[in-house]
Amino acid sequence: PRMTVIDTDPGIDDAIGILLALSSPEFTIAGVTTVAGNIGIEATTRNAGRLLAFAGREDISVFQGAAAPLSRVGPEPLNLHGEDGIGGVALPDPARPPEGRNAVEWLAEFLLDQPVGTVDVLALGPLTNIARLILASPEAAKRVGRVIAMGGAIYERGNVGPRSEFNLWADPEAAAVVVTSGLPLVLIPLDVTRRVRATREFSGILASSEKSFASMAGKLIESYFESTTNRESRPLHDPCVMLFALSPELFHCENLELSVSTAGNEHAGELAVAAGSTSVRVALRVDAPAALELLERQLTAAQAGDKFKI
Ligand code: BDR
Ligand code: CA
Repeated sequence: PRMTVIDTDPGIDDAIGILLALSSPEFTIAGVTTVAGNIGIEATTRNAGRLLAFAGREDISVFQGAAAPLSRVGPEPLNLHGEDGIGGVALPDPARPPEGRNAVEWLAEFLLDQPVGTVDVLALGPLTNIARLILASPEAAKRVGRVIAMGGAIYERGNVGPRSEFNLWADPEAAAVVVTSGLPLVLIPLDVTRRVRATREFSGILASSEKSFASMAGKLIESYFESTTNRESRPLHDPCVMLFALSPELFHCENLELSVSTAGNEHAGELAVAAGSTSVRVALRVDAPAALELLERQLTAAQAGDKFKI
């Protein structure tokens, strides 16, 4: 198994990504770090704890991270993910509170403790925590194996501004730090995540599964449908990060020299392919049917309460 930290702002699709990771023996989840994004930091932290409680995995610690972007006022929470951030889906309350330590401090210490290059960070929200790690503890940051981050739009239209995607838009200064840091970064942009779509039929199949991870993921996707009208399918953005980590051969990647716009408006977080900028590995295409099949297979292979040994 690969030592993995999940940095997240759950978020319905974050929640599905977390369930996918929890159901996959390929990952050893060292900790979950939270960031404000889809909703405020208290709620994203609480949701992370609730998902671990549901999975019977409260042995995994939650560390609360950044409440606001690096240097600007945070965005208003999206209402796409419901008032609680995960569509009102019933989950147990965590038996224990999040750790007292800040996410970035813990992550730095953890990385310094592990062999170089052995820890992957799966980043599902705004990149504030990762940028703080790079700025505050560059020696620790350099030890990361890979940062695999959902974010950005390359040739695709944006989902916040015309060309900007939520995670990069929400903290463009942090995104710029991470993209230009030279850390081994794989970006999973909307170009790919918009292709991995759950239909109502797919979510229905998951929701009616006897397996608890699958049925919870199905319920979460069904709640995602409730927040929109006239949509026959919903994109599974964040789970694509886990799917990439599990099966990179399902994705076509290219190295692109990218810069991030730190403009102050709807153009914030836009990516430009600019010669001379830092080269980043970017997923541009995906075998979507195979990705959905893998998602379903992993979610139905395990049950809440299962524990994987390191
Ligand atoms: C990203 O924004 C969030 O709303 C989702 O959780 C995902 O991480 C998609 O643009
Ligand atoms: Ca997210």
